[in-house]
Formats: sequence, C-alpha cells, structure tokens
Amino acid sequence: MENEINIEQKYIKNVDNLVPRPDLAFDVLSMAHNANCNFKELANKIERDPNLTANMLRLANSAYFGHMRAITSVKDIIVRLGLETVKLLAITSASVGLMKSPQEAYNLEPGSLWYHSHATAVLASVICQFAKIGDAGAIYTAALLHDIGKVLLNKPLQVAISNIKIKPEKKFSSLVELEYSLLQTDHAKVGEALLEKWGLSEQISQPVGDHHSPEKLESVDMGSKIVYLANFLVESIGIRSMSPENYTFNIQEFIDQNQILPDVPNFQANMENIMEEFFTQFNETTNIC
Ligand SMILES: [Fe+2]
Ligand SMILES: [Fe+2]
Repeated sequence: MENEINIEQKYIKNVDNLVPRPDLAFDVLSMAHNANCNFKELANKIERDPNLTANMLRLANSAYFGHMRAITSVKDIIVRLGLETVKLLAITSASVGLMKSPQEAYNLEPGSLWYHSHATAVLASVICQFAKIGDAGAIYTAALLHDIGKVLLNKPLQVAISNIKIKPEKKFSSLVELEYSLLQTDHAKVGEALLEKWGLSEQISQPVGDHHSPEKLESVDMGSKIVYLANFLVESIGIRSMSPENYTFNIQEFIDQNQILPDVPNFQANMENIMEEFFTQFNETTNIC
C-alpha cells in the first residue's frame, strides 16, 4: 500500500508545470469547497485571472444557469445567482484551463478531455436531480475532475509507450490495464491522490478513485456510483467533441448490453427522461467555455 502511494506521489509532483496558472485554479477549487469559504475573498481571487473571470461570466449568462439579465462581474454572480452557483461556476471555469490541452497518450485531441469531463458532470447532475440528492455539488465536481489523472499521466505514458517494447501479442483489455502495466498505477488513482493533495474532501476524491472499479460498486457511496454511471454512459455515447447533435444513444441497446449497473435511485425507470434532459443541458453549455 505504501509503495502504491509513493507511485502516485511521483506523478503528481510535477503538476505545477502542466498548466499555465495552476496555483490560481487549484486555490479556487479548494476555496470553493471549503465549508467556511469567504466569498469576497473567492471573488477577489477569481478576478485576478482574466480568463477564469471571462469563463465564469459566460457561463453565468447562459441559459443553463437560468439567468435572464446581463451579469457583468463576479460579485454580480454572487449577489444574483447565489453562493452555491458561484461554487459550481468557479469549479467549472477553473477546470477548463486544466483540461483543454491535448492528451496524446490517450488519443485525446485538444478539447476532447474537457468535453468528455463536462458531459460527465452535466449527466451526473441530471442523475442527481432524478435521484433527489440534495447537495449534488461534490458529485458534480468529482464527475468534472474524474479523469484529471490523465493530465498527469499523459507524458509518462507517452514516454513509457515509446521506450518499452510491448510484445505484439500482448493485448490489454482496458486502458487501466495498460496504465498499470507500464506505470504501476492508473489515472483514477493518480487523480484521487491529486485531489487529496489539493485538500478537496473525500466526497470528491473517492468517486474519482473509484470510477474504473466496477468490482467495488456494491459497497461504495452514492457519489461513486453516480460518477461511475455518468462516465460509463458518456463513454458509451462516445462524446469527445463539441458537436453533441451528432450523437445518438439507443437506450434499449444499452440496457441489453450492460446488465450490471450501479444501483442509483430512480435511474433505470427514468433513463429516457434523464438522457433527454442531459442532451438538452449539454447542448446549451458545451460551447460556452
Ligand atoms: Fe477514466
Ligand atoms: Fe472518463
């Protein structure tokens, strides 16, 4: 176990070199999730980064957040949309910068990881609505950041793939198996370790660590079940780009092929409505950031 922890630490060590302003994005993420968050300080911090501020304002003015009149400042968002919405906007906007770059080792073009992550977060929040989960903020964030480990493992995996000769007959049944074979860990575990390092709560880090562990599904918390389910569905649809109108999804086919799904209240019976609501919300938000 100790050995395993050291491996994840090795990969998260260089995170500060990966994104332009990691200090600010990370601070915003951890401040927004602190129970004693001072919103004036949060607003001041956000406004120090013009890109983050611009993303937040675009999102705040979108139909997705139900806004009718022009919002022109971060403080405006707090006053008009409420503190909970500010948290979600801050987290979403901070994540865009972290995930828009290409992740070559995973065959992810520029923007692909962001669209996949954003789709997973939107779907997780719709599943939460139907499951009547009161505080869905942590689940939304976990869904948004579930593949953040790919940002950290992209370079090491590229190097490992080019250096180590994999026997042609060696086939990996999953991406996680490939990661384990070459790096002795996977992007779910590295993502979990990173979120712990940032000081985010277990409600957020745990679902990230569990999102490729179907064998744990019976015993994990509802947050892990919902993030697993949302990621699994988004992967099944194959969302990787900004043209969601091109995606189709056959619910019956999906149910026929996937007998083992986590037990989430009101999911199976409402699947058609959930997917319809998801596509509407995803279409509305996907080109904003
Ligand atoms: Fe993943
Ligand atoms: Fe994913």
